[in-house]
Amino acid sequence: MGWRRVASPPKGRPVNERHLEFCASPEWAEIIEREVLPWAVGERDLGDDVLEVGAGPGLTTDVLRRRVARLTAVEIDKDLADALRARLAGTNVDVVEGDATRLPLESDRFSAATTFNMLHHVPSPDLQDRVLAELCRVLRPGGVLVGTDGVASDTLDEFHVGDVYVPCDPAGMPARLRAAGFVDIQVDRADLSDARLGWARSRFRFIAAAP
Ligand SMILES: C[S@@+](CC[C@H](N)C(=O)[O-])C[C@H]1O[C@@H](n2cnc3c(N)ncnc32)[C@H](O)[C@@H]1O
Repeated sequence: MGWRRVASPPKGRPVNERHLEFCASPEWAEIIEREVLPWAVGERDLGDDVLEVGAGPGLTTDVLRRRVARLTAVEIDKDLADALRARLAGTNVDVVEGDATRLPLESDRFSAATTFNMLHHVPSPDLQDRVLAELCRVLRPGGVLVGTDGVASDTLDEFHVGDVYVPCDPAGMPARLRAAGFVDIQVDRADLSDARLGWARSRFRFIAAAP
C-alpha cells in the first residue's frame, strides 16, 4: 500500500508487516488524532495517572500523552516497546514491555485505563476477557475505562491476514465488561466511509467504570 512511516517499528512481531506500517503511518496518525480519540475520549477527564495497553508504534500514545499528566504504555512486543521507550524518553510516558492478560502493575493504581485497536490481537475471547479483568483490577475505584476496536468486515479480515485476529462483537461487550467487574457500561458503534483509505470502517467504543 506504500504507507509512509512516522515512527519506525523494527521487524518481527505478531502484527503483520502491512498492518504495522499502517499503524505507524501519517494517515493513521491523522485518523487517530481527528476521529478515533476525540470520539472515544472526548472531553472526559482521565485523571492524573493513565494506562494504555497495546501501544504498538505509539500513535495513540502520542495523542493521549498530550492530555494527561502521566501515562504508562504497555506493549507485549519487545521491539515495539523498546522503540517506543527510546522515542518517548524524557517525556511523561513510561513504556512497559508486558502482557495485558497479566499486567505487571499494582492493583487500584490508575485513574483511567485505555486500549485502542488492540483487543482483536489477543488470541482468544477468554484471553480478551482476562485483559478486561486486568484493566478493572489496576483501576482505582471509580477509575474509567476507555477503549475502541474495529468491527469485523471483509476488508478488516483481509487486512489481518497473518495476524493474530480475533474480532470482538460489540453486542457482546456489555456482558463481557460486566463479567470483568465493570459498572456504568456504555458501548456504541460508528460506521464510517473513508474516501482517503478507500474502505468503509466500522468501529465500536466501550466506556465503563471500576466499582
Ligand atoms: C493494532 S496495534 C494498535 C496500536 C495503537 N494502539 C494504535 O491504535 O495505533 C495493537 C498492539 O497491541 C499489542 N498487543 C497485542 N496483544 C497484547 C497484549 N496481550 N498485551 C499488550 N499488548 C498487546 C500488539 O503487539 C500491537 O502492537
